[in-house]
Amino acid sequence: NVVIRQLVRNTARYENQEVELCGWIRTNRDQKSFGFMALNDGTHFTTVQVVYEKDGLDNFEEVAHYRAGSAISVRGLLVLTPQAPQPFEIKARKVVLLGDSPEDYPIQPKRHTREFLREQAHLRSRTNLFAAVFRVRSVAAYAIHKFFQENGFLYVHTPVITASDAEGAGEMFRVTTLDAKQPPLNEAGEADFSQDFFGRRANLTVSGQLEAEAFALAFRDVYTFGPTFRAENSNTARHAAEFWMIEPEIAFADLEDNMNLAEAMVKYVINYVLESLPEEMAFFNQFVDKNLQARLDSVVGSKFAHISYNRAIEILKAAEETFAYPVEWGHDLQTEHERYLSERIFSKPVFVTDYPRDLKAFYMRQNDDGKTVAAMDLLVPGVGELIGGSQREERVEKLEQRIKELKLDERELWWYLELRKYGGVKHAGFGLGFERLIMYITGVSNIRDVVPFPRTVKSCEF
Ligand code: 4AD
Ligand code: MG
Repeated sequence: NVVIRQLVRNTARYENQEVELCGWIRTNRDQKSFGFMALNDGTHFTTVQVVYEKDGLDNFEEVAHYRAGSAISVRGLLVLTPQAPQPFEIKARKVVLLGDSPEDYPIQPKRHTREFLREQAHLRSRTNLFAAVFRVRSVAAYAIHKFFQENGFLYVHTPVITASDAEGAGEMFRVTTLDAKQPPLNEAGEADFSQDFFGRRANLTVSGQLEAEAFALAFRDVYTFGPTFRAENSNTARHAAEFWMIEPEIAFADLEDNMNLAEAMVKYVINYVLESLPEEMAFFNQFVDKNLQARLDSVVGSKFAHISYNRAIEILKAAEETFAYPVEWGHDLQTEHERYLSERIFSKPVFVTDYPRDLKAFYMRQNDDGKTVAAMDLLVPGVGELIGGSQREERVEKLEQRIKELKLDERELWWYLELRKYGGVKHAGFGLGFERLIMYITGVSNIRDVVPFPRTVKSCEF
C-alpha cells in the first residue's frame, strides 16, 4: 500500500510497477469501454488519474457507477504520461469499493460558493481550496515552531483558563463551574456569578502574554502558540471568537529588537511555506489571487517599512476625503486606514510605532513625551493588522500608576508587578494572529475559510 505523496515524490521508482492506493473519488467519467477517475488520498495536493477498461476489470459496470465522495482501493500499473498535464496515471487491474457515497453528496464536482462550503465544514477539506488552505496551516504552524526552536526560544504553554484580563479590554468569556439554573444568590437575592470558578472568578484567555513575560524573565527568549478567545461582537472577515496566537517574549530587548524578530519570523514562515508547498501555492496564485506570488516574493525580498503613528496620521489626514471614518490624532486606525497605509503608501508590510497610550493596553512602556507608548503594529496589504506588540513597562511605579489610572484590579496583577520588583529588566514581545497570517499567505480573504471549524459571531455549528 502506497500513498500519493510517495508516488509524486518518487515517481521514477514506481514506473511500470504495480501499486495499490486507497482514496476518495473526486470525479468519475466513463465511456462505453473505459473510464477515468480522479482519486485523492489526502496525502498530497495532487489528484491521481485512474484509468480502467472493460477488458481489464471484472466489475467494470459497477466501477463505472461509483460516485464522487466514495472511498475505494485501486491496484494497478503506474505508467508515465509525458504528454498529459499529469505526469503519471494508474491503469487499474482491481478496484474495490470501501465506502459508498450516495447521490446527495454535497461536494459535487462543480464550483461551490465559499458560503455554501462553510455550512459543510465537515466535508469541505475534500475540495482543492480547503485541502490547500489546511495544509498551509499545518506547515506554517510547524515552521513557526521550527523558527523559534532553532533560535533557542523556549515554548511555554500558557493557561487557557486564567484570572487576568491581559488586554484590559473586558472581552472575556467567563468560565463557570456553577449551575446556571441554580446560581448562588447575593445578599439582595440576585444571581451571583462573581465566584464562578470553584469560588473564584475565571475566564478564557485573551492572550498568553502576561504569563509569557514571567517565563521570559526566567528563560530570556520564549514563545507561546495556542488558542485565544475574544468575546468581541465583531462580525467581520478578520475576527474570530476563537483564534490561535503566537506570542514571543524576549528579555533584555527593546522595541527595535522586537520588530526585527517579527520581521525575521514572518519572512521565515512565508519562505518555508513557499518552498514546502509549491503545488498549493501555485493553486492560490491561479485561483484565489493572481498577484499572490509576486506579493509574497517582494515581502520576502525587501525590508519592511517603519512609520510612527504621528507621521501616519499626517499622511492619512492628507487623504482624508477618501475615508469613511475621520482621521484624528488619538483615534484608533480603522481597517481602511491600515489598508491605505500598507497598500497605497508602502505596498508592503509596515510597522506603525508609538501609538497614543490611551489606545493601548496598560502594560506598554510609556515614552518620554508623556503621550505615547513603545507600541508597534504590523500592517500588511490585504489583511490590515497582522501583529500587535510592544516594549513592556518595566518600571514598577509607572506600571502601578497606569493600573490605577485605568482602574484595573491591582490585586489580580500582584504577581505581574512582582516580576518588576525581582530582577525586572527591559523586555518586549508581540502577538501574531495565526489565522491572519494564513490569510496573508494564501490570499483567502475571510477568516472563516482558514479555520477548520470556525467560531465567529454567528457560527458554532460543528
Ligand atoms: O493586538 P492584540 O490584541 O495583542 C495582544 O493580545 C497582545 N497581548 C500581544 C502581545 O504583545 N503578546 O492581538 C494580537 C494579534 C492581532 O494583531 C491580530 O492579528 C490577532 O492577534 N487578533 C485576532 N485574530 C483573529 N480574531 C480576533 N478576534 C483577533 N484579535 C486579535
Ligand atoms: Mg491589536
